[in-house]
Amino acid sequence: MDYEKIANERRSIRGYKPESIPKDIMNEIISVAKQAPSSMNSQPWHVHVVTGDPLERIRNGNTAKMMAGAAPDREISSHGGYTGVHRERQKGVAGQLFEAMGIPWDDKERRTDWAMRGFRQFEAPVSVVGTIDRVLAHSTVAYLDLGQFIYGMVLAAWDRGIGSVINGQGISQSSVVREHANIPEDEIIVITVAMGYPADGFPANNVESERRPTEQIVTYVGYDG
Ligand SMILES: Cc1cc2nc3c(=O)[nH]c(=O)nc-3n(C[C@H](O)[C@H](O)[C@H](O)COP(=O)(O)O)c2cc1C
Repeated sequence: MDYEKIANERRSIRGYKPESIPKDIMNEIISVAKQAPSSMNSQPWHVHVVTGDPLERIRNGNTAKMMAGAAPDREISSHGGYTGVHRERQKGVAGQLFEAMGIPWDDKERRTDWAMRGFRQFEAPVSVVGTIDRVLAHSTVAYLDLGQFIYGMVLAAWDRGIGSVINGQGISQSSVVREHANIPEDEIIVITVAMGYPADGFPANNVESERRPTEQIVTYVGYDG
């Protein structure tokens, strides 16, 4: 597939077939992703590909903590909830997903179930935990580096018929992830990515999220003068 086709057609996948992703295919995907550029070629990234029993323990640990009303326990700093235009965009895609899944806005129970699906890594057969070297925890550019790696991974997966959703909910209880994925102390947990073969007929998988018009994003300087 060519890059433009993959970039334009990829969408987040939130419903999966049960079969796992073979290790050699994951290895191919990660080998493509590692070609991402990084600041001074520092390559501060690591990925931990979790499946089977350890992933089940993460799902169950997350569920137990979230149901008990535990406060978020992340290793990276957070801005809190979005406001303004960012909140509007967040509501936009949530509305598209709820509509696809037939969940009314005022149905709190089903909305909670949907949120729990995120904490359960969308029941995906594989969850990839993305980390950076702890020594760079205060280097904003290291997070940019990891982000580039992760997007490369998502696109390389799509190219092989494998879907994914980058999943911030997956790190809400990072101590659970750290314990069961056995993350080394010299790395900090930044993100999880749910991955697997897209389930046929799972309505949220067809949602096409919106993008701002290009002219709202770009400012050209020196072009007309
Ligand atoms: C850093 C990051 C965190 C995300 N966390 C979640 C999440 O917790 N739950 C979820 O359903 N989607 C999550 N997403 C997926 C976004 O909602 C999705 O990428 C966005 O709505 C655009 O849709 P698309 O990926 O289908 O193009 C996350 C994406 C990124 C990049």
